[in-house]
Amino acid sequence: MPTPLRVGLAGLGTVGQGVVRLLLEDAAGLRARAPRPLVLSRVASRTPRPHVALGGAPFSTDARALIDADDVDVIVETIASTDADAALAASKELLAGAIDAGKGFVTANKALIAREGNALLAAARNAGTHVGFEAAVAGGVPIINALTQGLAANRIEWLAGIVNGTSNHILTAMAQDGQSFDAALAEAQRLGYAEADPTFDVEGIDAAHKLAILAHLAFGAPLDLAGVYVEGIRAIDAEDIAYARELGFRVKHLGVARRGAQPRVHPCLLPEDSLIAKVDGVSNAVQVHGHAVGSTLYVGPGAGAAPTASAIVANLLEIARAAPMALPAPAQAGATAPIGALTCQHYLKIPAADEPGVFAQVAEILSRHGVSIESVIQRGAAARGEAASQWVPIVILTNAAAEAEMRAIVAAIEGLDGVTGRIGRIRVADFGGTV
Ligand code: HSE
Repeated sequence: MPTPLRVGLAGLGTVGQGVVRLLLEDAAGLRARAPRPLVLSRVASRTPRPHVALGGAPFSTDARALIDADDVDVIVETIASTDADAALAASKELLAGAIDAGKGFVTANKALIAREGNALLAAARNAGTHVGFEAAVAGGVPIINALTQGLAANRIEWLAGIVNGTSNHILTAMAQDGQSFDAALAEAQRLGYAEADPTFDVEGIDAAHKLAILAHLAFGAPLDLAGVYVEGIRAIDAEDIAYARELGFRVKHLGVARRGAQPRVHPCLLPEDSLIAKVDGVSNAVQVHGHAVGSTLYVGPGAGAAPTASAIVANLLEIARAAPMALPAPAQAGATAPIGALTCQHYLKIPAADEPGVFAQVAEILSRHGVSIESVIQRGAAARGEAASQWVPIVILTNAAAEAEMRAIVAAIEGLDGVTGRIGRIRVADFGGTV
């Protein structure tokens, strides 16, 4: 009889319950895929959930006890809390305890890896502890497996994609169903996609955590969350999405990491016929460009109980096969070009007074900075179905311009008397390839 891999689960929220279901519902199927059977040995959660069937595993409210339990070989950590710092501290304590106790550790916690990973993963490596975090990035999409195994022969040049399911769900609902931002976010929360604190999703923090992890795995430099440039989707409105569509684009929230450049997450205009532009709803999509393979694309559900459990149980099976993920050896960080050095096209939505001469002044500023206009949309109040309006949006698609130049242009245009508010600015995807 092979020795079972005994699992202690910490956290019984949406994801934890998904793990329990997956382990119990198809135990025979899982049994066929690894030499050691996976057994749910113990479950711990701050909040008891008596309605959740645990297959006979004892329940406790003390997650720390899993560290010392002699019938637990690997701890699965799916702790969620509206207090992100408290959740991070609890997972950090568990991982440190697992390393000391010689137990494996599997987590869905991207903040743990992105914020504390340099020290903790080094300690795990030294101790020979298996740490799996496939579920921390892009939910059920095996992107970490792709980077560390399938593409291991490649020098990764860049990767880019949608890594927050909630933001993608919101942008899709706004574009397709005309839903408001708040209604779309509430639905994402109801479906279990959003973080316990959903500002992490809509402000790009969750995506930044994931991008920091991907950049580390792709380029081998230390994890550097603080080095990621971050913008979320709050400034995007339905009008931007409609104008972008008129110009032949979709609006997506992207993470982009290029070797030698500052990783960045921000909204992007993507050509409507690009593959990533067609990835809607809670789905994530990451395109990875390797020097030998060229471009590869990974698409699938980026959040939700079952997809996240799929990634967690895959890590458990790796440990049961004694073939855990190969993490890059720590390397020195190379010099990186800051986002100010980025050059790309821009979409600008300028709220302008409905009076003569404003557009001419805007065009003069762009011209003075050496930036050409590719397309313009401006409609008066009547064309927009309004009786009268104090202001009209001037929408401009520029040719490629440096980030720093564009910041100066935006400041100059916002300083015009005829411009009545903040300019909406969205970068156009610049990463090339086959997207
Ligand atoms: N809140 C995350 C998302 C869950 O929406 O993508 C998966 O990390």
